[in-house]
Amino acid sequence: MESALDWHTNFALLDWQVDLGVDEAIADAPVDRFALADKEPAKPAATAAAPPVIERKEIDAVEVARAAATQATTLDALRAALSDYEHCALKRGARNLVFADGHAGARVMVLGEAPGREEDREGRPFVGRAGQLLDRMFAAIGLDRQAESPEEALYITNVLPWRPPQNRDPEPEEIAMMLPFVQKHVELVNPQMIVLMGNIPCRAGLGKQGILKLRGQWAEAFGRPALPMTHPAYLLRQPHAKREAWADLLSLKARLT
Ligand code: URA
Repeated sequence: MESALDWHTNFALLDWQVDLGVDEAIADAPVDRFALADKEPAKPAATAAAPPVIERKEIDAVEVARAAATQATTLDALRAALSDYEHCALKRGARNLVFADGHAGARVMVLGEAPGREEDREGRPFVGRAGQLLDRMFAAIGLDRQAESPEEALYITNVLPWRPPQNRDPEPEEIAMMLPFVQKHVELVNPQMIVLMGNIPCRAGLGKQGILKLRGQWAEAFGRPALPMTHPAYLLRQPHAKREAWADLLSLKARLT
């Protein structure tokens, strides 16, 4: 069909639809549903045999996740298990699986919330503005996701490996499905401590939320010490909260040394 819009506008509109989760063109030509409404719907033949009854077995998505995560004995196998997991609808709207970044032998593991637009495009966690701030925050206490020595290294992942549409908060069912994978991820990396970056990781790891109250208080998550901290995206919006984040970073550093 001839379009009145120029190529660039068409491209931007398509790109926007992909971001909203559209991944399929239904038909080449539009269907005028108003014209169809006047037509009599086809009646089923009187003699048609009754359709066979198909018994549907409910799939327990959390159980499937648990079985898949249990079988993974390496990080590569865990990544493959996540990539094969078909029960989380977020996967269908995402461009990439965002698994992790950094050094798998790091003493500190950062657990974030979910990929945003840039992370979804690149397939790496924390690469947008919030990620750049996160890198600067950890650099200030001598930790770096690119460091080669485990002493100075950082390992970064998220509760959700797929971007939720419009960056909405994940549903409790989506967190529940990802929990077995996160638990296994922690076991395989085996960090000395975990930073719970924001509310979603606190919900996943502590079963609590209210990050402004939880931040700075050491707790236990996934069987090891965990420090809740305010998310760098929050710090970008509320720069006055950086002072408390700095205190939390110093507390982390003190525990490492
Ligand atoms: N926010 C997160 O929690 N994780 C990311 O990877 C990016 C932004």
